[in-house]
This record gives sequence, structure tokens and C-alpha cells, in this order.
Amino acid sequence: MRIISRAPAVQALSLRWKRAGIKVGFVPTMGYLHEGHLSLVRTARRHIGKKGKVVVSIYVNPTQFGPTEDLAKYPRDLKRDLELCRETGVDLVFTPGDSDMYPGKAERNYSTYVVEEKLSQTMEGTARPVHFRGVTTVVAKLFNLVLPDVAVFGQKDFQQAAIIRRMVCDLNFPVKIIVAPTLRERDGLAMSSRNKYLLGDLRRQATVLWCALKIAKTIVDKSKSVPAADLKSDLKKLIQIEPDAKLDYVEFFDPKTLLPVASVKPGTHMALAVYIGRTRLIDNARL
Ligand code: PAF
Repeated sequence: MRIISRAPAVQALSLRWKRAGIKVGFVPTMGYLHEGHLSLVRTARRHIGKKGKVVVSIYVNPTQFGPTEDLAKYPRDLKRDLELCRETGVDLVFTPGDSDMYPGKAERNYSTYVVEEKLSQTMEGTARPVHFRGVTTVVAKLFNLVLPDVAVFGQKDFQQAAIIRRMVCDLNFPVKIIVAPTLRERDGLAMSSRNKYLLGDLRRQATVLWCALKIAKTIVDKSKSVPAADLKSDLKKLIQIEPDAKLDYVEFFDPKTLLPVASVKPGTHMALAVYIGRTRLIDNARL
């Protein structure tokens, strides 16, 4: 397994692979890898075959964090990440630093961003104003460096995946986007690097997101059509039962357009963000 941290070096190697007709599968990550990430790696491998190269990037991208968010304390463990990548059959790990990804930013010489203007206007986009601009910018840059044929993203970040698909289509990136299912702990909590923050009883309370999704599904299965406002207020009450849980948003929307719906039916998508103590968790599911 190769480890490269310089942007021109990774691009040169990707170009060599491309010219040799070798397929590249790519999993961009912010590190602190868990089983969910490794399942994305395995999906990438399945799509490109044994002869292809699987590339994982590990980079905590500063431009997708707001000024009051957890950039500084975002969990990092590169040594362990590299071991997991090696065990999972990754061919190349790209570990750039800020000076590789945003040269000149400190001197205000970096000034080009990629902005998706429609799908990013709700949910995470409202709650975290600079977030998607940072995500689309860094993913576009990573695509230009890694030159993947296939890139795999997790369904847990449903809105992110939809925005990246749109960006790839709108800007003609020659990349196939695969969205792989969310991996869950035994009690339903979606796997996430941020779960590390959930100490003591907070870990138990965090299952309220999965409970809310399951209850919403049961209600919609039974009633076939429920006013979104009613379901929202019921779920808010459910979430408030947990002493350290605070609902940020719950939305019901069309899974293609991400536009909110007035009545929730089977096939409507639900997403929610909940603070458990100071940790903000997100989850989503098709109802
Ligand atoms: O989903 C993530 O971990 C990040 O948003 C991504 C896609 C690696 C971009 O920094």
C-alpha cells in the first residue's frame, strides 16, 4: 500500500494508471475510519475488480466546518487508519495537508470554490451555511487529483451524496458515483466518527435518532399519508424525552429533488439532525 501526501505526486500516479488503462475506485474520507468506511472501500473494490486500484483520501477539510464547529477536535488517528486501510486491501492512501489542498489560503491567495445552488439550500445547508461549499470544493479537487472512475459515498450523508451526484452531472466529471448503505451498530446507531464523543449515557441516548426513523416508518406504513407537520411535532416530543437530546431539524422530502413534502407517504425520505449533549448527529431513511 502506498501513502502519498503531496497533491502533484498523487495526480502523476493517477495519470499513469489512467494511461495504463487501470480503473480507479475512490473513497474520500476525513479519517478516524470505522466499519462504515471499510464497507465503502469494499464496494469500491467490487466495482473496479481485482486489477483496479482503490484509493482512500484522509483529510479533515477545514472549509466544510463553520467557525463554531468541531474542526480542531475532530477525531484523528492516522496510524490506525493506515492499518485498517492496509488490512482492507487499499492500494493508495492520499493524506494531504492544508498546504497541499489550499495552497496560499493563509495568505488569502486561494479563491476558487464550487457551489451547488439548489439541493444545498435545505437541512444541512441551512443548519451549516458553509458546509456544502466546502464539501463540493474539496471533492471536486480530490476528483481532479485522484481521477477516479468510480467514487463511493455513504448513504448516511444522504444530502451530501445527492449534491455530489448533481455536481458530477453539472460539471461533467467522468466519475460514476455509488451510494452505499449506512452501516449501523447493533442498537441501530448509524456508524460515524463523531460517535467517539458519546460518553456514558449519551451513547444510549443517541439511539433516539434510529427510534425516530423506525417510529415514523411504522406510522407511515399504517396510515399511508400523514401531515408532515403532525409527524414532526410527534417526533420532536419523542426526542425531547431524552434528557440530553435536542432536535436541530427533522425533514420529510422527495428523495430526488430533496424538496419538502406536505404529506408524508411510503417512499418519502426522512432526515434528522439531533444534538446529543454537544455532539450533533445526523441520520436518514426511506419511509
Ligand atoms: O463525508 C465526508 O467524510 C466528507 O464530507 C468528505 C466527502 C470526505 C469531504 O471532505
